[in-house]
Amino acid sequence: MHTSNKVLLALSLLLAAASGSLAAPALAGDAAVGRAKAQTLCQNCHGENGVAVLPGAANLSGQQKEYVRSQLRAYRSGSRRNDQMSIIAKTLTDADIENLSEWYSAIKVTVEMPK
Ligand code: HEC
Repeated sequence: MHTSNKVLLALSLLLAAASGSLAAPALAGDAAVGRAKAQTLCQNCHGENGVAVLPGAANLSGQQKEYVRSQLRAYRSGSRRNDQMSIIAKTLTDADIENLSEWYSAIKVTVEMPK
């Protein structure tokens, strides 16, 4: 972990303690680490920028962080099943899931309503 990350982590723990929420501190993912993981494990189907390249895979760029996290946990636990995702999610740690959620939610998307 970079020193600056350690400082940030210490600061956020202090803030969490100060606000009385240390029991359930918000996990902070690292988007750069998530990006590296996504490049090796996810982009063949979900695209380098989170726009799916495999028919049937979902677009992940700009997705809500909470949603990406909850779905990855669901595939991992077996409460949501898919031949491909169930296998992949089993290899993910909690930290991987935080980092991947951070990365995909950090990709900016713009939407255009149909005329
Ligand atoms: C072999 C292709 C493949 C790979 C590799 C893959 N996925 Fe998927 N992913 C899919 C498919 C297909 C779906 C749709 C599954 C379904 O219908 O439940 C999906 C669905 C998802 C969803 C749910 C999206 C939604 O809108 O509900 C998430 C989140 C996700 N993938 C994340 C990842 C992450 C993170 C990785 C890398 C760790 C990854 N996937 C790797 C094929 C893949």
